[in-house]
Amino acid sequence: ETATPQWRPTYHFTPPTNWTNDPNGLIYLNGEFNLYYQHNPFENKWGHMSWGHATSKDLIHWKHLPVAIPEILSKDTTTWIYSGSAVLDKNNTSGFGLNGQAPIVAIFTADQPKQKKESQFIAYSNDNALSYNLYANNPVIDLQMHDFRDPNVFWYEPTKQWIMTVAMVDEHMVRIYGSKDLKKWTKLSDFGPAGYTKNGWECPSLIPLSVDGDPTRVKWVLFVSSGGDHGPLMQYYIGDFDGVTFKNNNPTDKVLTVDYGDAFYAAIAWRDAPGNKKILLGWLQNGRKETYPWKGQMSIPHDLYLKTTDEGLKLIQIPSTIISNSLSKLSKGKKLIKEDISLTGRLDLSGNNSFNNNANWLDVEFNLGDAKKVGVIVAEKMGSDQKITVGYDVIKKELYVDCTRSESGNKDTRNLIQTAPMRSVNGVVRMQVLIDKSSLEVFGNSGEKVISTMIYPNKDATGISLFSDGKTMVRSLKVWDLNNANK
Ligand code: FRU
Repeated sequence: ETATPQWRPTYHFTPPTNWTNDPNGLIYLNGEFNLYYQHNPFENKWGHMSWGHATSKDLIHWKHLPVAIPEILSKDTTTWIYSGSAVLDKNNTSGFGLNGQAPIVAIFTADQPKQKKESQFIAYSNDNALSYNLYANNPVIDLQMHDFRDPNVFWYEPTKQWIMTVAMVDEHMVRIYGSKDLKKWTKLSDFGPAGYTKNGWECPSLIPLSVDGDPTRVKWVLFVSSGGDHGPLMQYYIGDFDGVTFKNNNPTDKVLTVDYGDAFYAAIAWRDAPGNKKILLGWLQNGRKETYPWKGQMSIPHDLYLKTTDEGLKLIQIPSTIISNSLSKLSKGKKLIKEDISLTGRLDLSGNNSFNNNANWLDVEFNLGDAKKVGVIVAEKMGSDQKITVGYDVIKKELYVDCTRSESGNKDTRNLIQTAPMRSVNGVVRMQVLIDKSSLEVFGNSGEKVISTMIYPNKDATGISLFSDGKTMVRSLKVWDLNNANK
């Protein structure tokens, strides 16, 4: 296999080698973000599912640790460690604590391919989340089902119990369980089917978010992933949770989309992050090309909010401020900050400023004027028509990513133009464009809409420029070079 360093991200998480898909067991402990991830420790493709492990203080520099939970092999049974969550059992409800130290408990799906069975297992760590012991009486929930997975657990203080959401994949339902000790689980309720139901449901999670920054107004948001074709990859539902039932505040058929691109999937949130922040991390799936020696990567972490809009409550997602606040440091000063540039046509940023390595973070605000389309062209091969366009279409009122010319002779079969409905605010549109070698994430209007996708530009396709079809005013432009962010 051929190494593909030109596509290895500089400020997104990837395993050093081999495969990853979903983020698992996101838990903040002792000042560090723990990231477990679906991992094949042996090959650069899906299989031998285990929990890989890494930790970080700043969500950019990752310390790679040994596999935390490996597949379990016995004579007749292979057990793969599928997606799930991890909790700090502060009060030692499980009794797994040792020497007065609270245990960390992982709750995950045990997939047994030979038996065609999925059930829920638990395992506990007495060494600060580095390694786990399997509970002796697994499974803790077994419905003798084939597709029943991805438990996500949190502590619910009012009823003093653990709550689990878990996917009944083919039923398009989320089952909610409760437990006092993480071992014995009681069914509380079912949610669904609702929203988009053409594909199986996976990776549900339920989190509280305050409304319009008011900590006394809390709504619960239920996230569900459901693979591809024509539907949103991830949906969310907004409602109320009383410790037993999740009640959707919208009509059952209402579809709310987390991300309008073709990559952001299986996302779950860190719950105990500093400042009560809720930070969502997804897998950027749909890698159409082989990369080596790794395959798969995580998204940029998203800070989550709820906002009242004239279309009701909406999820707002911005690239985590834990990262955006340190862009000056991460860019080692390689940045460009400008205001009030009148623009018709193109403004090249690659030439003179040497933003030419496809590892950039752009934040730009356009005062639309009479422009019909404005935006940012990235991964352009100069002197050819190869490029990727990130734009706002004033007439269609759409944020878009156009990959139709992303490679020469593109024979790509996916949806090459990805769009999200969006309106300008007092004639202004903001775009945060994160390009990192093989990923492109676009946040429109301070997190109202997100489009995430994977890209595979040629080595020499690194041009970056602003464009305006008509006359616009660039109110503010900030560009950071993150090629050495990891160093
Ligand atoms: C989602 C998923 C999960 C499952 C895991 C297996 O991408 O299919 O439902 O637990 O991946 O790797």
